[in-house]
Order: sequence, then C-alpha cells, then structure tokens
Amino acid sequence: MTAHADAFDRWIRTAFVEMNTSLENEYFAREDRASVAGVGDCIKAALRDEGQVHVAKLLEEGNTDDGFDSAFGVLGNVGLYLGALRRHELTNPAREERSPFAQASALALHCGASLGMAPRFATAHLATHNRALGGVRKSFTSLTDETLFLDENTRGILSLQTAADALRRIVPLGVSSAAADVLFDTAKRALQNVIEFNRRLFAQLDVERFFFCVRPYYKPYRVGRQEYRGANAGDFSGINEIDLLLGLCRASDPYYAQLLVDKMLFMLPEEQARLRACMTYRSLLDEFLAAAGCSGADWFQRNAAAFLEVCSLFGQTAAQHHDLLVKRFIEAPAARLKPGQLDGLTASGPPLPVLLKSLETLRDLRTAAPRDDLATRHRDLQRIRGLAYTLRPPSI
Ligand code: HEM
Repeated sequence: MTAHADAFDRWIRTAFVEMNTSLENEYFAREDRASVAGVGDCIKAALRDEGQVHVAKLLEEGNTDDGFDSAFGVLGNVGLYLGALRRHELTNPAREERSPFAQASALALHCGASLGMAPRFATAHLATHNRALGGVRKSFTSLTDETLFLDENTRGILSLQTAADALRRIVPLGVSSAAADVLFDTAKRALQNVIEFNRRLFAQLDVERFFFCVRPYYKPYRVGRQEYRGANAGDFSGINEIDLLLGLCRASDPYYAQLLVDKMLFMLPEEQARLRACMTYRSLLDEFLAAAGCSGADWFQRNAAAFLEVCSLFGQTAAQHHDLLVKRFIEAPAARLKPGQLDGLTASGPPLPVLLKSLETLRDLRTAAPRDDLATRHRDLQRIRGLAYTLRPPSI
C-alpha cells in the first residue's frame, strides 16, 4: 500500500468511524429517527472535507500499479466514504444528475475499471476481504449492532462458500462416486452453520438500530453520472454457485440469468470466474435425474439421500432469510414509516414491494416450492425423493 492509501485506510478505520457513530447517536436520539437533515452539520462537513483531502492525494498519485489488493482497498475506502456521504444526505441520486463528489467518483471509477468491478464498495470489502487489524474490522460505525451484523453476515457468507466449494468438487467426481459422501457431508455441516448464524442474527440484532443506523449506509449512490445500487450481503458468488450446482435455479431462466448479470460486477473477479464456470456444468439434480435408471443401486440411494438433505438445508437458509430476517428487519419497520420516508429504502433501489416479491421468488426457487406460476424444481425433487425410496422424506 502507498503512503497515501495507507493514510486513507487509517482515517477510514478511526476518525471516519467516530464521526459516523456520533451522527448516528444524534439521529437516533431524535423523535423522528428517519430525518437527518440539519442534524450534526459540523460533523458532516468535517467528514466530507477530511475524506476529500485523502481522495485528492490519491487521485493525484494516480494508478501506482501497487497490485490488486491496494486498488481493491482504495476502492473499498472511497466507496465507504461515498456510502457515508449518501447516508448523511450530502448526496442523493434522486436530486442530482451526477455525483457532487467529482474527485471521489474519478478515483472510484479508476479503481473499479482497473479491477473489473463496479466503482463502489462491495460486500467483499466489509465481509470476506475486510482485514481486521488488532481484532478490529472495518465498519461505518462502532455500534455493536453494526459489528454484529457484519460478523454474522461474514460467517454466513464463508459457510455458504464452503458449501459451494464442496458441491463444486462433486462435479468432476460424478454423482455415483463413493467419495462424494465426504463432500455432501461438508456442504451439510456448512449449511447447518448458516442456519445457526441466521438464528443468532435474528435473536440478537436490534431492529431499530439496524433499520435506522446500519441499513442506510447500503443505499444506492451516484459515481460520476451513473447511479450504482447498494451492496448487500448477497454479492458473493457462493450462493449462486449452490443454486446452479444443486440445480434449484437455472442460468437459462431469464429472471435468474438477469440477476446473475446484474450482480456480476459487484463480485471479486475470481468469484466472477467461478460463477461463470458453474453456469457451464450440468447440475447435480439433472445428474440424478439422468441416472434414474440406476435408482436401485447403493450409490444412488446413498448419494441421492445426501443430495436431498443438502437441498433441504439450503432451502431452510433461504426461508430464514426471507421469512425471518427480511420480514423482521426490513418489512416490519418499513411498515411503520410515514409516507415519503420510504425513498431509497432498499439497497438495489426498487420500491420495497417489488424487492420483496423478487426475494420471495428466490426463496421459492431455493425451497423448490410448488408454484404454478414459477418454474421451480418441485416435481423433479419429488421424483428423486420417490426414487430414493429407502429415505425418510426431507422437509422440502
Ligand atoms: C439482518 C439481516 C439481513 C437482512 C435484513 C437482509 C436483507 C436483505 C435484503 C433487503 C436484500 C435485498 C437487497 C436489495 O436488493 O435491496 C438482501 C439480499 C441478499 N441477502 Fe440478505 N439480509 C440479511 C442478512 C443476510 C445474510 C446473513 C446473508 C447470507 C450470508 C444474506 C444473503 C443475501 C443474499 C444472497 C442476497 C441477494 C439476493 C439473493 O440471492 O437471495 N443476507 N438481503
């Protein structure tokens, strides 16, 4: 890291966090927690100006060819800075045609384009590639609810990546391989962990703090002329690798393919490559269907049972996300807002009902729910369940 990049990183980890935390405490103490205009103006100005000094130096320095990690780190830091400016209403894409922060935009565009990523902070910056120094990871604030959210998210993402990695290793072995058992087992245990992390998050996260002090940092903002959607915990390829490998979602489905295209640039380049590879494999479900004639074989009984269990656990994680987390932490508090306060509520930008519908579609694909209006794999899974006749039917 260059001296300027290092100084910016130090500022993001210290003064930036302190200023955001002070502002959050001021907003949260007000009767109307959703309105931030006119509150803490001196702190907001200091945050904007101090960050700008770092940005200007980095922009002047240009691309120092200091390697991927450095550019990725600067992209994350300038992204956190712009995300905070958006959160404090120092910029708002609805009232501007271009970002008022031209230098920060230029720096983000330069880094994003050179890395092959969207020019804003991504999930990886706050989760899988959020380097802890002395036990402290990067965050917008030092509020315990933000760190709880970040840490449980990261654990969930890491476990989904473990499950995806195990399932991917079955592809070259084939579903009849005796050795597939160890991989199904790894995937099962990883998904059980995700269920546990989701439960903990549901039980421990404070609804009001999350809704009013954490979520607003994930709103869309402009970089240059263009508006970029916010990061969300879902911008990693592992979850989609699982979708495709299990066969619950298909890259040939126009709805799902669009989702993959939209999220591609929010992922690390290495994840983009893994996801593209997964689009070319035959799914495990299709492998089992193709092997239906061998359903009497021991391998089919054993491996199909393990496969169905993995599908069931994965479906449970998807149901938890929608029916517990989204409902409790987004839908319920949003219903209590006054009209006009719903603008910019979601990370991706669409109005909340539209977003909820699309998250519901994902849940139903992942749980293989019986739906006449959606091509889920319900019948195909039923077929495998019927063939794996020695099994107790799993719950999906
Ligand atoms: C308080 C907890 C959480 C809440 C309230 C929440 C809410 C949301 C919302 C509202 C979206 C849609 C974002 C948008 O487009 O605007 C989303 C997307 C997503 N979230 Fe979460 N989330 C939470 C935790 C998690 C965790 C722990 C994970 C996994 C580790 C996760 C995985 C995903 C994924 C993969 C997506 C992308 C859509 C999909 O493929 O399902 N979320 N989340």
